[in-house]
Amino acid sequence: MDVMEAIYQRRSVRAYTGQPVDKATGEVLIKAATQAPSSMNEQPWAFAVIQDPKRLAAWSERIKAHVLQHLKPDSPLAKYRDILSGPDYHVFHRAGTLIIICARSGAHNGEEDCSLAAQNLMLAAHAMGLGTCPIGFARPWLNLAKSKREVAIPTGYKVVFPVVVGYPKGETAAVSRKEPKIVVWR
Ligand SMILES: Cc1cc2nc3c(=O)[nH]c(=O)nc-3n(C[C@H](O)[C@H](O)[C@H](O)COP(=O)(O)O)c2cc1C
Repeated sequence: MDVMEAIYQRRSVRAYTGQPVDKATGEVLIKAATQAPSSMNEQPWAFAVIQDPKRLAAWSERIKAHVLQHLKPDSPLAKYRDILSGPDYHVFHRAGTLIIICARSGAHNGEEDCSLAAQNLMLAAHAMGLGTCPIGFARPWLNLAKSKREVAIPTGYKVVFPVVVGYPKGETAAVSRKEPKIVVWR
């Protein structure tokens, strides 16, 4: 698949079969992620791969509770209150694999580097027939000290980009894009 096709066809997939990707596939995706550019070539990323459905379901419940507990009425996330309150909503969309991209603390531009790595991973996954979805809801909970201990994220790393990967169940409709706002072109 050519890169423009991947860019234009990738979607955030929210329905999965639940089958985890095998280790070789996961490694291909992570290797693709590490081909991203990084500030001063620091490559400050580290990857945590979670494929235990029971753990993911339990964390999903705790993440929902954490987000709801900290949701301020004026937050842009407030529109998701009803969705997050639903007992059937699974934060990880029941995907078989969660990859948590972490940045070494103190990296010069760790968040940018890891976000670029995530985009590489998502495009590579799409080219391999897999679906992905960024899971921003999970980030605050994953960054709590007690969650990091439970997930086994080493001290000295912060969670930047959780992303689920899996085999899509059905088609995902495209979300429209606004026209680019070009503010100057001299
Ligand atoms: C930083 C970030 C966090 C996101 N968090 C979530 C999330 O928690 N759950 C979810 O279902 N989608 C999440 N998304 C996916 C966006 O909703 C999605 O990218 C957007 O609606 C555009 O759709 P598309 O990815 O299919 O083009 C997130 C995307 C980004 C970039």
